[in-house]
Amino acid sequence: MKVTKAIIPAAGLGTRVLPASKSIPKEMLPIVDKPAIQYIVEEAVQSGITDILIITNRGKSPMEDHFDRAPELEERLLASGKTELYDEIVSITEMANIQYIRQKETKGLGHAVWCAKSFVGDDPFAVMYGDDVIISDLPACGQLCRAYEEFGLATVGMKEVTAEQILKYSSLKTEPIRDNLFRVTDMIEKPRPDQVLSLYSILGRCVLPPKIFDILENTAPGAGGEIQLTDAMLQLARTEGMIGVDYIGTRYDMGNKLGILQASVEVGLKHPEIGAELREYLKKLAKTL
Ligand code: UTP
Repeated sequence: MKVTKAIIPAAGLGTRVLPASKSIPKEMLPIVDKPAIQYIVEEAVQSGITDILIITNRGKSPMEDHFDRAPELEERLLASGKTELYDEIVSITEMANIQYIRQKETKGLGHAVWCAKSFVGDDPFAVMYGDDVIISDLPACGQLCRAYEEFGLATVGMKEVTAEQILKYSSLKTEPIRDNLFRVTDMIEKPRPDQVLSLYSILGRCVLPPKIFDILENTAPGAGGEIQLTDAMLQLARTEGMIGVDYIGTRYDMGNKLGILQASVEVGLKHPEIGAELREYLKKLAKTL
């Protein structure tokens, strides 16, 4: 079954990037000239997604404004002959059918996903973490959607992390299928060093069947008193199995100060307008370090 729906949970508090995220949603922090959330919506559209639900909360309305028309600004751009910019600004509002729902309390990623129940209905859907921007010539979400369409099983995007990082993430037990595809048979969230199953962790994206909602409804709060999406996924992995895609692409964690800087530098270097100048600047700067 073709995957055409995606949800973007963006209702977290973003405490790791305070004070920047106090009044600006971290999903709106720019990478060069576009907010993080726009990269994610573009990736969704390039992956064949047509309907997107963004999970928001108080203070996140700049995201809604970003994907809405801006008549005054548009008029001004047209009047001053900036038609290219006008076209770009309008095209942002036409990319996909975007809807919003509020997660009224910050009860964890699992609860945020649960808020999408009526949007999802009986369809499979992609979950694109609102603070994970993945840059790739082959959209990462699409790589997962194609695997879901082939195997009909919950599919997670995974990457190898360091032995230190795995203790803060989820650790997956995997068996290779072919190329960058794996079968995931078990997983553990925030393992102790002796519990690590592999250095593969779920990062940024997954595609889930609608039955995840029945499981979430019966999932007790886990680590940190939050309803953890990984606890629900664990049940799927152990009962019917799950697919892991070691996706092609570079992931930037926009919920983390260093991740934001890495994204700016690396995307900036490839930017047609400022790339060359930034390269020269970095070369000069590197000599002084
Ligand atoms: P994080 O684990 O990064 O949580 O959430 P956070 O609260 O945003 O960040 P810190 O740890 O306080 O700095 C992963 C994704 O899940 C969303 C976040 O917006 C982010 O995209 N999320 C998290 C929700 O939508 N609701 C929640 O209750 C928790």
